[in-house]
Amino acid sequence: MKLANIKRKWWKEAVVYQIYPRSFQDSNGDGVGDLRGIINRLDYIQSLGVDVIWLNPIYKSPNDDMGYDISDYQQIMDEFGSMDDFDELLQGMHQRGLKVVLDLVVNHTSDEHEWFKQSRSSRDNPYRDYYHWWPAENGGPPKRWSYFDEQANAWKYDAQTDAYYLHYFAVKQPDLNWENPKVRAEIFAMMHFWFKKGIDGFRMDVITFISKHDGYPEFSDQYKGSQMINAYADGPRLHEYLQEMNREVLQHYDIMTVAEGPGTSTHNVMKLVDEDRKELNMNYHFDHQGIGVGERFIVNDDFQNLVKFKQVMSDWDAVFTEKGWNTVYFGNHDFARMVSRWGNDTPAFRAPASKLLSTYLLTMRGTPYYYMGDEIGMANIRFDDINDYKDLMTVNWYHLTKQEGGNLAQFMDSHKLCARDNARTPVQWDDSHNAGFTDGIPWLKINPDYSQWNVAAQESMPDSPLNYFRSLTQLRKDNLTLVYGAYELLWPEHQELYGYTRRLDDELLLVLLNFSTHMLNVALPPELQGGSVLLNNLQHLNQSTESIELEAYQALVIKVK
Ligand code: GLC
Ligand code: CA
Repeated sequence: MKLANIKRKWWKEAVVYQIYPRSFQDSNGDGVGDLRGIINRLDYIQSLGVDVIWLNPIYKSPNDDMGYDISDYQQIMDEFGSMDDFDELLQGMHQRGLKVVLDLVVNHTSDEHEWFKQSRSSRDNPYRDYYHWWPAENGGPPKRWSYFDEQANAWKYDAQTDAYYLHYFAVKQPDLNWENPKVRAEIFAMMHFWFKKGIDGFRMDVITFISKHDGYPEFSDQYKGSQMINAYADGPRLHEYLQEMNREVLQHYDIMTVAEGPGTSTHNVMKLVDEDRKELNMNYHFDHQGIGVGERFIVNDDFQNLVKFKQVMSDWDAVFTEKGWNTVYFGNHDFARMVSRWGNDTPAFRAPASKLLSTYLLTMRGTPYYYMGDEIGMANIRFDDINDYKDLMTVNWYHLTKQEGGNLAQFMDSHKLCARDNARTPVQWDDSHNAGFTDGIPWLKINPDYSQWNVAAQESMPDSPLNYFRSLTQLRKDNLTLVYGAYELLWPEHQELYGYTRRLDDELLLVLLNFSTHMLNVALPPELQGGSVLLNNLQHLNQSTESIELEAYQALVIKVK
């Protein structure tokens, strides 16, 4: 790989830090994080050395799905504050050299959006075709699977007009009809509104689902249950719509775009991100999240299978050797805490394991998407009681499992590992009451481990996960090899060691990660011997010329030449 041949872009060199505003910082004691809370923490955010802030939805919403059900795209959610707060936040970020990416949720709206209220009111309302309707006189609609519906059925009967509407997600999230050019024009105008305010990009929620199949055909048997996601992502006009969006909106600004891409694979992703096609910049996939996780997030023995993980991540990297650009992430608001899912959150290993995972994200090729709280090693809360969950996905799946007479104990155990609320518990700022998150009653329980695991405690520890994360963002900034260098996987079959090199021009870096709870002796091939250590997540270093001994969860970044 030669730097001279690379198309450098700011969004390729950026580290993205994701903020789930509801759980970041409450400023007015109502128990819900808000924009003012983020404003109050701007210096902290800047101190991390990250470049781009992705905010989960901040728009007006009845919060059936925590903001992913939008009732007005150009207003701020009441609980989060006002448009003035947003303008101040954007300005505060820009003053600190941080870019701001918003969530674009346009596969569906809330059923409380004015468009849907109109649409459902009569069959001849001008907004009728803003959504997908199936008249009941045509008989039952063809089967469609829904993520959040209590019966997993994506068609909801609406008596007012004797018809069914389509909702891939909750009943309160009807799918927009992109086939209607008026819908596309409304969305593009709304995107211009935000870009004119100065935002720096969009993360596009389930954007792969926007084009529906004409006439809603029955899908073949290969698309059973959640497998239907692959059919949803294969709509006939997806790329036509994204090219139109690029032409009408995106190309007019210096911004970044990233698809949340359920249904994307190494085989079809280039259609989204090949720059010559003029669609989107990046995509993130779910292949690694799916390892060892089945229907309704029931886990199996493969849950932490490192060989499979390495394979998935290496296959994805290989797609982008010539064109396009990758993303890497472990956690976000839809998955477990990274240290609990991919590392080890038992007391002895939690700090090194979370540092190791941060090392991985910041030394891979592709833009890292880093989730708030992971910098201090926040862990899963593991609720025992279904009533503690606020996420409609866990709650509805629980009811569905119960209704089917399924195994509820197994369900609860698996959700201790996988439920989305594990990642949504409030950020732990200090050891004061409610972790410094709120003076009121937090909307979701705070992890009781906050008395030890919090930002304030880690600020004062030089070798804390927090300070280590800061050294990683700095290291990535100082080393373009970590951004653009070719990636090569070493020891693909090793079940506990993840090792790889990054190579750009004459520079060669070696990353060694021990994903196990014991010492590993790593014999280095001659061409990788004799390097100097740039970063080590432990104090300990046991290196001879030909080999390195890695302690449990030790992570090393080595400059070979
Ligand atoms: C995306 C979001 C998730 C939301 C869903 C429906 O997957 O990340 O939080 O529930 O889309 O909008
Ligand atoms: Ca608040």
